Amino acid sequence: MNENRKRQIEFGDFQTPDDLALNVCQRLAGLGICPDIVIEPTCGIGSFIVAACQTFPQANEIYGFEINHNYLDVLRARLTYIENAERVRLKQTDFFATDWHTTIGKLNGSVLVIGNFPWVTNSTQSIIGANNLPEKTNFQGHNGFEAISGKANFDISEWMLLEVLRWFKGRVGNVAMLIKTAVARKILAHAERQGTAVQDAFMISIDAKKHFGAAVEACLLVMCFTDNTQKPNHDYMIFDSLYDEKGRRVGHRGGLIVGDLATFSECAFLVGQSPQKWRSGVKHDASAVMEFTHTAHGLKNGFGEVVEIESDYLFPLLKGSDIGGSLSVGFIKHYVSDW
Ligand SMILES: C[S@@+](CC[C@H](N)C(=O)[O-])C[C@H]1O[C@@H](n2cnc3c(N)ncnc32)[C@H](O)[C@@H]1O
Repeated sequence: MNENRKRQIEFGDFQTPDDLALNVCQRLAGLGICPDIVIEPTCGIGSFIVAACQTFPQANEIYGFEINHNYLDVLRARLTYIENAERVRLKQTDFFATDWHTTIGKLNGSVLVIGNFPWVTNSTQSIIGANNLPEKTNFQGHNGFEAISGKANFDISEWMLLEVLRWFKGRVGNVAMLIKTAVARKILAHAERQGTAVQDAFMISIDAKKHFGAAVEACLLVMCFTDNTQKPNHDYMIFDSLYDEKGRRVGHRGGLIVGDLATFSECAFLVGQSPQKWRSGVKHDASAVMEFTHTAHGLKNGFGEVVEIESDYLFPLLKGSDIGGSLSVGFIKHYVSDW
């Protein structure tokens, strides 16, 4: 691997196209996000800095941080053509070595942290012999075996976002990050576990293949933080694209992940204890001998044969396809009784 490619991987260096950054900022404005201060912690050549200058005229200060000083030079040159860019302050810094607590502590007003952290895992870094990592990499508290088995593998964007969440302790503001969808889910779950003061959140799908040439599910994760006077709300909205305004609300209810809270609340009366034991998962190949329907002549299998089966081994069967289409409840003979 040549040095340039290695550096690109080590620093997760895939700059956001200007038009995507602008669309993101416009969507945030559409969601009512109107920051006093904007922070881009790994700003690269600054598509989000430029888009923030164009979209948030009320913001008093716009901060860009970046490890690569050449990128900051490019950005300084770009800003000479941008209106109201005198609000922008740029600093070369390593995210992992920065005292964010002090930096953020000095700021007054509502903060928007925006950007696109590096998408690279710690294991990829070790494979290519790179070390763009936090000092303590076992932040999830995994044991030695989990480290060997790969469970302790993490995306450095995840580590960075968890750090950003700490900046919002007792502070009002928003985070908006382009990120792998799997990482976004982990962050939302973490915030819920920790009781972080999230007021609302949004996962807006983006086409990572089109914008970054990356074959991975990705999204814009937006989290809105309240001060500690309001009760946190860990439900969130999912949108199919930056232009989807309808979306659906997702959350946890009764220990379940509910993919559409509106429909769930209409059907919630169905949730409860069933006197009937349910089984799920019949191999498609076995369906002809495992599934039966009630007929006037008795139970019939998939070959059209009438069969006699002990009632102990019959269970209700509801297929996913039944839920999508019209409901027809069949019965399944469960051959292996208890595994
Ligand atoms: C995915 S790119 C995104 C750049 C910019 N945020 C954007 O949206 O176009 C990630 C950026 O993070 C920078 N970066 C990587 N590791 C860093 C670190 N430890 N500290 C600060 N910046 C870092 C890279 O140089 C790169 O510009």
